[in-house]
Order: sequence, then C-alpha cells, then structure tokens
Amino acid sequence: ITTGNHVTPESVKNTTVIVIDVLRATSVIISALKNGAKSVVPVTSVEEALETKKKLENVILGGERKAQKIEGFELSNSPLEYGSTAVYDKNVILTTTNGTHAISKSSAANKVYIGALLNARAVSEKVAEGGDDVVIVNSGTNGQFSMDDFIASGAVISEMLSIRDYELSDVAKTALLIYKAHPDFLSYIREARHYKVLMDLGLEEDIRLCLHKDLYDIVPEYKNGIIKLNF
Ligand code: MLT
Repeated sequence: ITTGNHVTPESVKNTTVIVIDVLRATSVIISALKNGAKSVVPVTSVEEALETKKKLENVILGGERKAQKIEGFELSNSPLEYGSTAVYDKNVILTTTNGTHAISKSSAANKVYIGALLNARAVSEKVAEGGDDVVIVNSGTNGQFSMDDFIASGAVISEMLSIRDYELSDVAKTALLIYKAHPDFLSYIREARHYKVLMDLGLEEDIRLCLHKDLYDIVPEYKNGIIKLNF
C-alpha cells in the first residue's frame, strides 16, 4: 500500500486505487449513492458539466468552486444536500476543484474505488478481495498535500491491515502513525488549511458528517467515466 497526491497513469498502472477527498468530494459521492442516486458523473469543468447534462436524462448538477455552490447548479458540495429527496434515481453530474480531477486522473488503474472516512471499513474489505498493489490517492487541495486526506488514508490503511497483511511504503506507514496518534481525527484535522476554509463558511456540520467513520457500508466504483455502486 502506498498513499500520496501525485497521480500519473504510470503511478497507478496495474494497481487498485482508492481515491479519497474526505473534505468533501468523495464524502459527497458516497452520500449521493447511499441516498439512491443512480450514478455520479465526475467532470473537471463547469462547461463539461453542462455538456454532459445534454447527453443524460434525469440529471442534477452539483459541485463547488472555492467551496461554494456554482451559479446555475442545483446543489453545492455539501454531503448534507445529497439526501434522497434531492438525488433519488438521479444522475448527479459533479464538478469540484480537486476531488473530481483526482478521480479522472486515476482512470489508468485496474480498479478505482471511492473512499472516505464514511466508508473506510467497507472500502478496505472491497480491496482485500483483489490481489493488486493498492494506491490511496489523496485529492489534496489545489495540487498541495492536505492533512485531512492523509489522516483518512491512515484510517483506511489501519482497516486494511486488520483484514490481512500488506507491505507498506514509508508514506503509508506515516499516515498510519498519524491516524493512530489522532483516532478522533479532529485534533489533527483542525490544523488543516481546508478545515479553516470550511469553518469560515459555516460548514461545521459538513465536517462533522465527513469525519463519521464507517457510517455507510457502500463502495462506489469509477468505471468508464461513471461512478456507481454496481456495474
Ligand atoms: C474539492 O474537490 O476540491 C473539495 O471537495 C472542495 C470542497 O470541500 O468543497
């Protein structure tokens, strides 16, 4: 297992990837599918979102720029907005600053799963079924390392090791040690830059939900440009 936020087709070739953007893109994707969305289509620009909308039926547009709702979109990037009334049976087209890019960049992997604290245990069980090396892709913030994704990857690694043995890279070991030192997450994550951005926008409830480990037991998969629970 290794973890990090630099993804290239080469770095994920022949591996199974877990993409993590705990605050908040992958937490949003998991919430949407848990609440009955038919699919989530991650796209990297607003233009692409509007183009994709023309090709699909039963669509709802979601996402953020600078952590806030995009003009003309129905939903922002708050997992609390993705309840069943909003998303049931819908194809959610989602564009976010970092998370949806990290997902697209991982497409050269054998398998791409969507992970967060919300499904840490479930995603660990899913990857244990396969024999690939595992790369945990941290979405990061604007190309930079982000503390929130790093500790979440530590939590996933801890779950994975409780299922079977894995060899860990040094960076994976560091993520695990940080998780073990801060099992409550908050004492570490409140130092993160993106934590402050969200708190300043009054999004404390979002953070609380995103830090709820193992609330859900679903594992979304990304394949051919679409995220679904079952292909
Ligand atoms: C992202 O994908 O950049 C993040 O999820 C940003 C956010 O918290 O809205």
